[in-house]
Amino acid sequence: MSGELSPIDKAKFVAAKRAAQYVEDGMRVGLGTGSTAAWLVRCLGEKVREEGLRFRGVPTSSRTAELAREVGIEVISLDEAKWLDLTIDGADEFDRDLALIKGGGGALLQEKIVATASDQMVVIADAAKEVEHLGAFPLPVEVIPFGWQTTKALVEETLISMDVMGRDTTLRMNGDHPYVTDEGNYILDLHLGRIGNPRQLAMVLNQMPGVVENGLFIDICDAVVIGFGDGRVEVRDINAGTVQQERLDFVEDDNLFGDLDG
Ligand code: A5P
Repeated sequence: MSGELSPIDKAKFVAAKRAAQYVEDGMRVGLGTGSTAAWLVRCLGEKVREEGLRFRGVPTSSRTAELAREVGIEVISLDEAKWLDLTIDGADEFDRDLALIKGGGGALLQEKIVATASDQMVVIADAAKEVEHLGAFPLPVEVIPFGWQTTKALVEETLISMDVMGRDTTLRMNGDHPYVTDEGNYILDLHLGRIGNPRQLAMVLNQMPGVVENGLFIDICDAVVIGFGDGRVEVRDINAGTVQQERLDFVEDDNLFGDLDG
């Protein structure tokens, strides 16, 4: 089965498998959303079933909640957990300071709330997600449906004075209709090319009426586990200032590799 995985999926899988080692008995763990996070949920489900790992997971989307229950993870809400030991999630981009762009999968609002309510956030990503400057990936901004066109115009006007390369803003669609988030909101994707000052942009966006949250995660991520297609992983911990390199055995496992959809 493993032979059928593309190098990028192998990279996501080994990053997820290595990050699953962070989860210990008794923890309350935020479970991210996206294709890499789906690997993590599968790996953790296997540890629950095979090794008797006992932890409670707080999903960041309805998709992740469904998958977590399916693989045998005990799911609780953030209000039940109140505070988390750890969140593990994917990212669309990360830079050397571990600033992130997230929300490509549309779950940025719950993801940011959950990650911020955690003692530690670990990002899992394939090596292609690392960038020198954030912004090549369109920045998702979650907005209230009421007056979204006015909010979009306000965002576009504000971008004129921001240090960015591009300024196109598009409403995310799901077929013929606007994409709707788990919280019932819309998403604007900001095609910025390069973001000169992510911290400033994040603050300015969140001050606009109609904007609920943006996909810039600054000073939230503590460590990144980077996966490579040949089974190597690199773990960078920004607080400890350490970089560790390892190689994971790539074991064929039908339970993990069957019918996964990110
Ligand atoms: C979901 O809203 C996103 O923040 C994802 O975590 C991010 O898009 C990474 O997704 P992949 O692991 O599928 O690339």
